[in-house]
Parts: sequence; structure tokens; C-alpha cells
Amino acid sequence: MTRRIVIDTDPGQDDAVALLLALASPELEVAAVTAVAGNVPLSRTSVNARVVCELAGRPDVPVYAGCDRPLRREPYTAEYVHGPTGLDGADLPEPVMPLADGHAVDALARLLTAAEPASVTLCTLGPLTNVATLLRDHPGAGRGLAGIVAMGGGFFEGGNTTPAAEFNIYVDPEAADIVFRSGLPLTLFPLDATHQVLILDDHLRRLRALGRVGRAVAGWLEFYERWDVAKYGFEGGPLHDPCVIAYLLAPGLFGGKDCNVQIEVESPLTVGMTVVDWWGVTGDPANCHVVRDVDAEGFFDLLIERLGRL
Ligand code: RIB
Ligand code: CA
Repeated sequence: MTRRIVIDTDPGQDDAVALLLALASPELEVAAVTAVAGNVPLSRTSVNARVVCELAGRPDVPVYAGCDRPLRREPYTAEYVHGPTGLDGADLPEPVMPLADGHAVDALARLLTAAEPASVTLCTLGPLTNVATLLRDHPGAGRGLAGIVAMGGGFFEGGNTTPAAEFNIYVDPEAADIVFRSGLPLTLFPLDATHQVLILDDHLRRLRALGRVGRAVAGWLEFYERWDVAKYGFEGGPLHDPCVIAYLLAPGLFGGKDCNVQIEVESPLTVGMTVVDWWGVTGDPANCHVVRDVDAEGFFDLLIERLGRL
């Protein structure tokens, strides 16, 4: 029984690896990829998503361009991490496959409205602008969603963009607030989880040995990890977004608990903070399953085995 998913993404090297993992895994049907402005502008994320689909030999997967700026705030991008193209580190051709027609939000609304109830899992790897716009403008679309699995936020680990805020939430906190208040089944991979998934030299060696795809992935990751290694002193960069896909494939690699999570949208000091009530002190109802425990080596074994199939 395959699981039907949509991946909303701002590639970004770690997004790209997540896309490859999904496309390499027969348990998943990638019904669509929706690009959003994030790590780099939409003009690049909508190209990069297609570069990755073609690298995976899947030009059949529809890639839609979505929102090119946050709901309210000025765009904030991360070329300082991902490079000007967003996929620096590997020299791959520009895509031949065209963008799918229409706005990503409209495509998502059509897909979810036509889907069986609770049949599609939405995997979000970037700012939540597309998803919030969908929920705001197409209130019935949520019926088709089995749930949302999102990379974003941080609690005991703090933020990576400000001391309080992680990038995906910081870029569009109003969008995140809409999603976290939606009542949809939500699973969150915060920095507390993804900072345990560090790219080590042995992982890069094993990736290069896979051939063309593995060499491209190793090149991306060697470029992308510099910023986190310099900032945190980690022995490798954290591989954030592929955790979302790995969770669908092997949930036993992860552990967490249901918590109340709210988004700070007002304070200039802490805007974009995910306020995770891990110890249940507020008594507020849980609205999110927050992942905190990761079997990192089990994750890399899965990732490398699957990428070897491409
Ligand atoms: O903070 C890490 C997240 O922000 C990842 O999704 C990365 O790709 C960037 O979008
Ligand atoms: Ca991302």
C-alpha cells in the first residue's frame, strides 16, 4: 500500500536530498512537488525542484511554483548557507521539464479536493506560506489531508536564524501560526531532532561510492554544511529535511511526544519562535507530535540504501 504525498519545498541542498529519498522509495507516491520561496527566491526553488526530479529520472512528477514571498513580511533568504543557486556544490544541468501549469496553491486545492478523505500526507520542508495560503483560501481542502509532517522550529535547541527562531518558521511566522492553529494532524521535526543527524565523512564516502547521484549529493552536502559546522562546531552539518521523508518510511527511527506548540508572531525579539510545551505546564491541548529522538545511523543507512537505487 503506497502512501500518497505532496512535498512543499524550498530547495536547498537538504530539501533536494529529501526529494531524492522520496523519489527513490516505492512506498511513496509523490503526487506533486510545490515550490515556495525560502532558502533562495521562488525563481530558483522552482527550478531546483525540477533539477532534482530530473536527477532522479522522474520528469513525470508535476512541479508547481507557489508563493514568492511570505504572507506579510519581507522575503528573507539563505544564500549564505545554500549558495546563490540554492544547489551549489554540484554541477547539474538546468531542467528540461517545464513547470506544471498554474499556481501551486490552486493545484494543491484541486488535488486535495479530488482526493479521498485523509488520504494525502503533506511534507513541508520550507516556510509554510503555500500551506497557510491553501488553508486560508480553500478551507475545504484540508479534508483530503491525512496530516502534515513539517521540518521547522526548535525548543531546547533554540533557533538557527535568530537565538529564538528556526529559518522555516522565522521566514513566515504568520503562515506557521495558521498551520499550527489548523487542527490538522501535525508532526514536527525541530532542530532538537535534526541537529542529531550530522553528515560525517563516512557518510560522504558511502554516498560518493553510489555513483552519479551519490556524487551530486556528496557535493551538495559538503558545500551546504560549512555554515552550520562553523557556527555550531559540529563535526558535520545537520541534514534537516530528509528526516521528514525518513519518518514516513521508518517511523521507528524516531521518537517524540504530543505537545502544545504555538508560534510567536508579535515580539521583535522572539518572532518565529516555536513555543513547545514539552513538559505540559500550560495544560493547553496538544496540537502537534514533536520529534526529539533520532537513530541517526539508522537514518543514514536508510538514506544511503535508497539513494543507491536511483
Ligand atoms: O532551518 C533548516 C530549514 O531551513 C531546512 O528546511 C532548510 O532547507 C531551510 O529551509
Ligand atoms: Ca528546506
